[in-house]
Amino acid sequence: MKKIALTLLVASVGLMAADGAALFKKCSACHGAHGEKHALGKSGIIKGTDVAADLAGYKAGTTNKYGMGALMKGQVASYSDADIAAVAAYIKGL
Ligand code: HEC
Repeated sequence: MKKIALTLLVASVGLMAADGAALFKKCSACHGAHGEKHALGKSGIIKGTDVAADLAGYKAGTTNKYGMGALMKGQVASYSDADIAAVAAYIKGL
């Protein structure tokens, strides 16, 4: 029962407004918990910057700054426009 309740909770949270902090979790593996790292030694440091346009470009497959745009496309492919706006706002505030 507990598992079912938890699943329902997670599902309903998913329907709520996009949560930038939650969306940034997987990014932190490469970009650092506070966006303070050069991801895989390649990217610039993203903390405190406005990355909305970059993320839209990666999703569209039109941005490729250091030869690893395809990798970043995979990261944001499933993000909606609202997700991109939310995670970008979160990164700007880091
Ligand atoms: C597997 C490692 C990895 C993960 C996970 C990852 N990135 Fe990246 N990120 C990279 C690499 C490598 C680049 C350089 C891409 C290129 O060549 O343009 C990059 C580039 C970027 C840039 C452009 C930085 C610049 O220098 O202008 C932004 C913004 C960015 N990532 C945001 C994110 C966000 C947001 C997430 C989570 C949704 C994320 N990344 C997840 C590795 C990663």
